Amino acid sequence: QAFNERESLYIALNFAKNLFVENLKSDEGRSIGLSYFKERGFTQEIIEKFDLGYALDSWDHMLKSGKKAGHSEEILLKAGLVLQKDDDKARIYDRFRNRVIFTIHNLGGKPIAFGARILTQDKKQPKYINSPETEVYHKSDVLYGLFQAKQAMRQADNCYLVEGYTDVISLHLAGIQNVVASSGTSLTEGQIKLIKRFTDNVTVLYDGDAAGIKASLRGIDMLLEGGLNVKAVVFPDGDDPDSYSRKVGGEIFQDYLKNNARDFIEFKIDLYAKESEGDPIKRAEVIRQVVQSISKIPDPIIRTVYVKESGRLLSIEEDIVLAELNKILLKGE
Ligand code: UTP
Ligand code: MN
Ligand code: MN
Ligand code: MN
Ligand code: MN
Repeated sequence: QAFNERESLYIALNFAKNLFVENLKSDEGRSIGLSYFKERGFTQEIIEKFDLGYALDSWDHMLKSGKKAGHSEEILLKAGLVLQKDDDKARIYDRFRNRVIFTIHNLGGKPIAFGARILTQDKKQPKYINSPETEVYHKSDVLYGLFQAKQAMRQADNCYLVEGYTDVISLHLAGIQNVVASSGTSLTEGQIKLIKRFTDNVTVLYDGDAAGIKASLRGIDMLLEGGLNVKAVVFPDGDDPDSYSRKVGGEIFQDYLKNNARDFIEFKIDLYAKESEGDPIKRAEVIRQVVQSISKIPDPIIRTVYVKESGRLLSIEEDIVLAELNKILLKGE
């Protein structure tokens, strides 16, 4: 009874991390998992830095190894490492099988969850299987890569926000360490508070597809509401930060970020301008969309700065922008 349940969960999760890391060095792990990582350009150094691993093609490797090491079935279940069969609760099996493993750490660097990627193109199975919510893993309060990024975030006073595990890793390989991932789901208030502990400046790097752009629009407004300064970069359609950085290499990728990071206002104008050229009604919609975002900013002085900026960028009178803004702000009260 020396440990409480949370402590036992941390210990089991750390055991699991070590097992996945060791699996990657086994014959099966090397030929399947390691070769997958190598194909994606991951180095030995980055594999170690992120505790990347491999789950064997087995129904009970974790279960048996865990029990042998003294972790109870109850704790393995509560840690999300094993599952009960739907129709026979007494039968327990490994959650992660035949997948490469991305270890998710808390702020202190302890393993708290795992993301597991499939190795085939099988469209019937999910690309990633993730740990469930547990007593020590609240998805909405975790950013992937924050443990490895926090120092660089403070130093650079900026944070790159990406969608996926592999985007975080590829940015590190490209020489960028101040990067975290929302891991696919939409950004939460808890995640924004986490970023704010280290910097007030965020650059959103979402995937260059329709889903990514939609998610970045939602994310931008939430970040603005949280009082952060927000920029965004758009990638060519079909590329995400991982694929693009591997395509062009670290140096060109860094230049691309420098040359293409736009204030959220310009990002939105560019986005809507494409559809609205020469169409006055759609142009009015651009103005409304931009003002909608400005209205999220809590600081009235910063709002005023952006009113001026958007007047200039849209070549319309500041008063018109201001009137629209006040309309929205009044509605919100
Ligand atoms: P993506 O589909 O963009 O995957 O989802 P990815 O990160 O680019 O992965 P690769 O390059 O194909 O390997 C972005 C993120 O959304 C979450 C994961 O965190 C993923 O990194 N996701 C995606 C899931 O949790 N489950 C899924 O089935 C798919
Ligand atoms: Mn809790
Ligand atoms: Mn995507
Ligand atoms: Mn992606
Ligand atoms: Mn990708």
